[in-house]
Amino acid sequence: MEKQEIRTFGRRHGKKISARQQWLIDNILPKISPLNESDNTVKILEIGFGSGEHLRELANQNPEKIIVGAEPFMNGVASLLSAITNITTNEVLSEYKNIRIFADDVRDLLRNTDSKFEQIWVLHPDPWPKAKHEKRRLLNAEFLKLLSNHLTNSGEIIIGTDHWEYFDWIQQELQKTNLKFSTPDIATIHTRYQEKNKAGTIAPKYLVIKN
Ligand SMILES: C[S@@+](CC[C@H](N)C(=O)[O-])C[C@H]1O[C@@H](n2cnc3c(N)ncnc32)[C@H](O)[C@@H]1O
Repeated sequence: MEKQEIRTFGRRHGKKISARQQWLIDNILPKISPLNESDNTVKILEIGFGSGEHLRELANQNPEKIIVGAEPFMNGVASLLSAITNITTNEVLSEYKNIRIFADDVRDLLRNTDSKFEQIWVLHPDPWPKAKHEKRRLLNAEFLKLLSNHLTNSGEIIIGTDHWEYFDWIQQELQKTNLKFSTPDIATIHTRYQEKNKAGTIAPKYLVIKN
């Protein structure tokens, strides 16, 4: 029997999804699956996009590239679907036609595609701060190696977190791999999680990882 994988995310469902959002999940989501995409297109991946603010920025900044988002939290997926579709026709807006959504664990996506990405973003991954939950942390050495197999030659993984202990922990995990990494200062990237933390004013730290 296959080993049961440890779950790295919290809830899959939050408050009730609206009728329009459910329609979008049933009718639009299957049409924009990254698994329908050819492996040869230039792609960027965002893991755990939350409500998709940063993913939409990526789509705007890179109209010629395919932007893939993976997120198992269905309310976040529903928010993104609402934001990228026309409220009257429910069609995907022209500026977001390059977005593809995988509404589940990114590890299932990566095992089912040979696609390579020129950037892989992970912003504010769940830090699982309690010692007994440490095994739930997504960015362990095994996962970082899986990600590195999906990078293009010059591709990079960009991680941002305001949980400094998790930031140090990821660097220890990186020491168990052959990956190269740096810790540059990047201008603050806005995501919903980051906005919520405004009062806390804990600056996010960033890691850029390459093969
Ligand atoms: C703290 S939230 C941050 C959301 C967003 N990046 C932001 O900054 O607002 C972390 C997100 O990672 C997602 N996540 C956790 N494990 C994941 C996995 N294995 N695959 C994809 N997403 C995952 C969670 O569902 C959650 O929405």
